[in-house]
Amino acid sequence: MTLFDMKGKVAVITGSTRGIGLAIAERMAEHGAKVVISSRKADVCEQVAKGINDRFGNGTAVAIAANISSKENLQNLIDESNRAFGRIDVLVCNAASNPYYGPLAGISDDQFRKILDNNIVANNWLISMVVPQMIERKDGSVIIVSSIGGLKGSTILGAYAISKAADMQLARNLACEYGKHNIRVNCIAPGLIKTDFAKALWDNPENLKASTARSPLLRIGTPDEIAGAAVFLGSAAGDFMTGQTMVIDGGATIS
Ligand SMILES: NC(=O)c1ccc[n+]([C@@H]2O[C@H](COP(=O)([O-])OP(=O)(O)OC[C@H]3O[C@@H](n4cnc5c(N)ncnc54)[C@H](OP(=O)(O)O)[C@@H]3O)[C@@H](O)[C@H]2O)c1
Repeated sequence: MTLFDMKGKVAVITGSTRGIGLAIAERMAEHGAKVVISSRKADVCEQVAKGINDRFGNGTAVAIAANISSKENLQNLIDESNRAFGRIDVLVCNAASNPYYGPLAGISDDQFRKILDNNIVANNWLISMVVPQMIERKDGSVIIVSSIGGLKGSTILGAYAISKAADMQLARNLACEYGKHNIRVNCIAPGLIKTDFAKALWDNPENLKASTARSPLLRIGTPDEIAGAAVFLGSAAGDFMTGQTMVIDGGATIS
């Protein structure tokens, strides 16, 4: 096996029908992993899984729809993934929600709770569902897609930023809890990436300029520029890394 090989590994990736999750699923499949494609829409999951099977061989991907707001959906995602592939070696908690832009004083309780539930509590549910089999095998990698929003204060993304900071701490805590079982738990913190989720921040030229003017690489990123870090963390290359947050942001946070 080469360092970044994922042959024989099974990866479940939430929110993998587009954007960063899709790029992670495609690159993991390219590196030999079996992948579970998941989002809220079953038909889109099927379409994406078919595309991956056409490219990398039948049996590489399966589609299992799940809304991260539902504990039952997440348990079904894990049960069906086990049924399809017999094991889960890598879990990528990628899907997240941000229903509110604006100052924290204006956020409704429901909006705040949805952000905390979907971006923190649901990750802990999902991880708790997968970890027992990883403990049995004494091997596993959990990757949480956080955000550089969790490293900075924000005037418009407050609750989201709080949830993404909590994800970094979730990774540190769970890395401590599960380290003795050789389970690694890390975050990836992307900067601004050209996806639907962040469209409001790059769609308009003024916003785009404001987001990139002080960034060393002077541009936003693409989903594929995040995928390599996930392959690193999911393969032998990342075996000694745990509890960390990998910032991939074109230098936005250091300038
Ligand atoms: N784009 C950025 O600039 C950026 C920067 C930092 C961090 N991030 C983080 O990166 C992750 C992925 O974001 P993205 O930019 O790739 O978003 P995206 O392109 O909008 O893709 C989001 C994916 O998640 C799925 N999804 C959305 N809500 C879901 C739910 N409640 N349950 C299950 N699946 C759901 C979507 O499919 P359906 O809508 O069909 O369910 C889709 O597959 C998020 O954690 C986000 O916070 C993004």
